Amino acid sequence: MTKPRFRTLAAALALVAAGGATLAIAASPADTIAARQANFKKMGGAMKVIKDGLAGGADKTKMAGAAKTIAAMARAQGPLFPKGTGPGAGVKTDALPAIWAQRVTFDGHAKKLIAEADKLVGVAGSGNTAAVAAQFKAVGGVCGACHKQFRADD
Ligand code: HEC
Repeated sequence: MTKPRFRTLAAALALVAAGGATLAIAASPADTIAARQANFKKMGGAMKVIKDGLAGGADKTKMAGAAKTIAAMARAQGPLFPKGTGPGAGVKTDALPAIWAQRVTFDGHAKKLIAEADKLVGVAGSGNTAAVAAQFKAVGGVCGACHKQFRADD
């Protein structure tokens, strides 16, 4: 009798674990923080690709790909700032407590980044360097505005 019951329990736990893998909110604070930092790093790398492209060469394909990376990473960040992943989590993070005290403002920056990154996707492969430069500046402005308010060491 105990054996089948154990098996059921194991199956239930496996289901919970599988759910946790898809839901970032159910992951440990350390995993969540590492995931969002990795996404931000990819965004930073993609911004550099566009900056370098604008400085010379302007490889349209590369710049279009980088813009898509920024837009995708911006969307991925949404669930990666759950409560309990601030400086008190015991994991190194530059996320300031203000994120959770001023959630609406923080989410506003995050939404704006998605909108501006989408516009960058729209122009990045156009070959219109002036338009790419202007939109690159708009995206960079959103990065900077959020960092100033919500990221330490900035
Ligand atoms: C909605 C606010 C917000 C926006 C918009 C934003 N960031 Fe950040 N960024 C943060 C926060 C908060 C951290 C600190 C994350 C942590 O340490 O947990 C961070 C960290 C980073 C890091 C350091 C990651 C690491 O290795 O620890 C880089 C690089 C970065 N952001 C680049 C960017 C770029 C590039 C953009 C724009 C394309 C951007 N960010 C837009 C809030 C934002």
